[in-house]
Amino acid sequence: MEKLKLRRSSINDLLMGYLDKAEPKELYKAVRHLPSVGGKRLRPLVAMLACEAVGGKMEKALPFGVALELIHTFTLIHDDIMDEDEERRGIPSVHACFGNDTAINAGDLLFAKAFHVLTDLDVEPTILKKLTREIAAMTIQICEGQQMDISFEEMEAGENKLMEMIEKKTARTFQSSAKGGAMIGNGGDIEVKAFENYGRNMGMAFQLWDDCLDVIGGEKLGKPIGSDIRKGKKTLLVLHAMKNAGEKDKKVLKSILGNKRASEEDIKKAIKILNETGSINYVKEKAFDLASNAKKCLEKIDDSEAKNILIELADYAVERDK
Ligand code: IPE
Ligand code: IPE
Ligand code: MG
Ligand code: MG
Ligand code: MG
Repeated sequence: MEKLKLRRSSINDLLMGYLDKAEPKELYKAVRHLPSVGGKRLRPLVAMLACEAVGGKMEKALPFGVALELIHTFTLIHDDIMDEDEERRGIPSVHACFGNDTAINAGDLLFAKAFHVLTDLDVEPTILKKLTREIAAMTIQICEGQQMDISFEEMEAGENKLMEMIEKKTARTFQSSAKGGAMIGNGGDIEVKAFENYGRNMGMAFQLWDDCLDVIGGEKLGKPIGSDIRKGKKTLLVLHAMKNAGEKDKKVLKSILGNKRASEEDIKKAIKILNETGSINYVKEKAFDLASNAKKCLEKIDDSEAKNILIELADYAVERDK
């Protein structure tokens, strides 16, 4: 993370510059609420590093990265409304502070800003057209993935469907970051493909680890522990536990899943079952495998500092505590 300081500060400068205070004040307060307190900025970092790794300058990919961060922020605001989560990045979520109506509106504004920022990209028109299409297609996939996530609260889904959901709602953004960054750096077809595959594998690992953090996370996480259990999310953890738990534990788990009034004790009971069925380890192993696949995708890429950082980021995706 030390190595990323400089890149992160240029991301923050450009990002916050686009979110300047304007009227109506309440709307812009809501828009700046999350970006001003932090966030890992992983998607723009991946875009800049991929650009550098194919020989481009990191600044060239900066507006593209910021566009991705704006879309990411918009999806976080709407996701917290859907998931009924009151905390994000260690502070009250946007809807908890400003109400659902303003939060939805702030998310929409951030989405539109992303397209504004894209027009500041200094690339050939044909590449700009491809990147704009990429971002539109990515956002459609996020919506499809989020809808699958919502509908799986009420119905059973197998492992393949769950992996498809994860790929769409989360991995696609990392895929577009890495692919777009390589395109902006004028990477060749083989390089662009390698980064696209890196991003998809890394992103899937990232979401599986996020699902684990929901049950093993600590203070630093900055979002509520056990939220997926309370909301009845069919994560791979739950799918595995439902297959492998004894009848009694299955009943207990079923009674807690989706119970908004579940006590801290209940959540602990559910997590204990996820542990005893080996479900947490099962999902962790899957995440490690995907991170390792992500690293393999970069074998074809010439060595550089940027490539090394991307390799470290794949490990970080499945080691992080926030
Ligand atoms: C959270 O993403 C949403 C998921 C896809 C799991 P991050 O963990 O990258 O969130 P921030 O931007 O660092 O807060
Ligand atoms: C969110 O997945 C994915 C998107 C925001 C598109 P989660 O719902 O698991 O993310 P967190 O845990 O709230 O950050
Ligand atoms: Mg959520
Ligand atoms: Mg969600
Ligand atoms: Mg989560």
